[in-house]
Amino acid sequence: MVTPSKLAIAAVLSAVVIGSASISMPVLARAAQDHSAWSNKSLGADARADLLLKAMTREEKLTLVFGYFGADMKDKYTRPPESRWSSAGYVPGIARLGIPAQYETDAGIGVATQHDADHWRERTSLPSGIATAATWDPDLAYKGGAMIGSEARDSGFNVMLAGGVNLLREPRNGRNFEYAGEDPWLAANMVAAQINGIQSNHVISTIKHYALNAQETGRHFVSSNIGENAAMTSDLLAFQIAIEKSKPGSVMCAYNRVNDDYACENKWLLNDVLKTDWGYKGYVMSDWGAVYSTAKAANAGLDQESAGHSFDSQPFFKEPLAAAIARGEVKTARLDDMVRRILRSLFATGLMDSPEVADKPIDLAAHAKVTQADAEAGMVLLKNDGNVLPLIRTAETVAIIGSHADVGVLSGGGSSQVHGVGGNAVPGLGDPGFPGPVYYHPSSPLKAIAKRIPDAKIVYDDGTDPVRAAKLAAGSDMVVVFANQWTGEDLDFSVTLPDNQDATISAVAAANPKTVVVLETGGPVLMPWADKTPAILEAWYPGTEGGEAIARVLFGEIDATGRLPATFPASLDQLPHPALSDNNGNPKALFDVTYDEGAAVGYKWFDKKGLKPLFPFGHGLSYTQFAYSGLKVANAKGKVTVSFDVKNVGGRAGSATPQVYVGPDGDFAGWEAPKRLAGFAKVALAPGAARHVSVTVDPRLLATYNKGWVIKGGKYAVSLGASSRDIKDTVSLTLAARTLPVTYKGN
Ligand code: BGC
Repeated sequence: MVTPSKLAIAAVLSAVVIGSASISMPVLARAAQDHSAWSNKSLGADARADLLLKAMTREEKLTLVFGYFGADMKDKYTRPPESRWSSAGYVPGIARLGIPAQYETDAGIGVATQHDADHWRERTSLPSGIATAATWDPDLAYKGGAMIGSEARDSGFNVMLAGGVNLLREPRNGRNFEYAGEDPWLAANMVAAQINGIQSNHVISTIKHYALNAQETGRHFVSSNIGENAAMTSDLLAFQIAIEKSKPGSVMCAYNRVNDDYACENKWLLNDVLKTDWGYKGYVMSDWGAVYSTAKAANAGLDQESAGHSFDSQPFFKEPLAAAIARGEVKTARLDDMVRRILRSLFATGLMDSPEVADKPIDLAAHAKVTQADAEAGMVLLKNDGNVLPLIRTAETVAIIGSHADVGVLSGGGSSQVHGVGGNAVPGLGDPGFPGPVYYHPSSPLKAIAKRIPDAKIVYDDGTDPVRAAKLAAGSDMVVVFANQWTGEDLDFSVTLPDNQDATISAVAAANPKTVVVLETGGPVLMPWADKTPAILEAWYPGTEGGEAIARVLFGEIDATGRLPATFPASLDQLPHPALSDNNGNPKALFDVTYDEGAAVGYKWFDKKGLKPLFPFGHGLSYTQFAYSGLKVANAKGKVTVSFDVKNVGGRAGSATPQVYVGPDGDFAGWEAPKRLAGFAKVALAPGAARHVSVTVDPRLLATYNKGWVIKGGKYAVSLGASSRDIKDTVSLTLAARTLPVTYKGN
């Protein structure tokens, strides 16, 4: 239906176009264009974008800054027929200029579809983002990104809404599984590698959700309040470094407010920090339903409104933007800037030069190997008393308990949900509405275990009755109990395992002292039974080959190489915010979360407060042992390099993940915490083999922020650890005072 107000806006739009200086352009718009100027690949992306911009009409420019949802919404909205069916978004192209349409798909673990079980196409799901972060292996993250980027391309998409780098400030955040943990350096490196992989397919990747979208509760109403300097050294630093290292074509501004202003109309976040201080040259797209204004958002730095008809209270760009320009509230030059940024990313990622998108076959078998390698490397062996793991192959009676381990592995819910190969192994669980359905990839851990011990008698129990499960465990040689916590977008979750699973684990562990626990969780959970079970493996949401990956690690066919990218607290009262903030029962009320802890996120908070977590950041056991020696630090005119040797002193091949931490020597006044992760390596070693490792420390990790990166002159402690709480050696470093400008960029 065409409403009177829409007609009025349309009238304003045509007046703008006809009344503007570009009066001849609509005529031009229909004329064939000579593309040769901007097709010249020897020119850089900036020059090509400038040339193309000059050839565009006002109407065409307004087209590029406005996106449509790619799925129908009952009684509300019908998607443009040219959009990709059931996709996150669509921005029309401009055929006469050879500008391709932007076909947008979620997200970080693979090509998601909006959920409609009748139409999905099978695709590969990586393990969750936090699982990939737990690999501490940027090379694997790159390969995963390259794989899902190719599936995006071969599904007809050229923009992937992937690159979740929000720090895990809040263990209850329902989207922690999409992100890369609590440390800016680790998260930035892992997410940058993934984005580089995605963009290697000439697909734009969209780092998100900028910024401080640390909880899902009240995500449209909450203001994340934090000192600017603290933000610069924590959540924003993760974005800054990831952006530097991967140059994502786009940044997605978040739903929440930051220091009272919505992220998508927050001048400090967008214009001042992202575009001016960091010199970001790509475009800012809004999250779906994150725009509240036209002029304020446009002038603050928002470049493209996503799905304006579907999720925002009204479209704010396109016609309303034209009207705001006509009223002088937004300058014409600002529209040009928005469009130039979008064009620049189309050129810079190579998308403009490889514009064809089409449905093509996907090599699912080859991609299964990529996701499996990622899942295996990210599993964290939290505990292994008495070397209960690896599992032995001589067991005769085996109990597999809980978590639908007979048929599949859990995944996280919401817009990032990938409909994987084989469909949902456990349909009908939970609420089918968003962020559901609860979805299990049909990769059965039980079958993968059974394949390895074909003569054993294996019995599955669903774990819902602790007494029954304990009885089975008591009579079995081998017991593996699976426990899970489904999490998803738009919700936060308790860190206590749901459905009485703690009681089941406790009862099973009491019945059989060799009980192995496998967790499939979105992030940290409490484990009141941790002292009673000898072995705990955190498998996260392990993706479409998760069952096989779990079995490979359990049986020790590969080493256990994952390390925690986030602290597992022992109790909620250890957290800076023991209770989640919300809107006090008034769902539309604005409310604040004040991050008084500043940059002391995760282990930094635990170190500062002297708290003992359940499992610390960086922790993870291997099936072999490593020795560390020769820690040295060199300072060549402020370039700090840390070197050491790591040796496999155990009896089998494995991977060490040495971690370098830095902090002021003694009193850490001025810093948020005693130490920060400043470097890491993942080192695969045969038994007896050793390697010399050296890492360079980004100077921002030695600085505090105050109108620049301020490095205080004096002594610093440089430590080498196997986790944030397992420090092997510490040496001293002396630094001269210096301040790096706000525009400082790493390598
Ligand atoms: C999510 C984004 C996602 C977008 C499009 C939003 O609800 O927050 O992460 O990319 O939807 O599906």
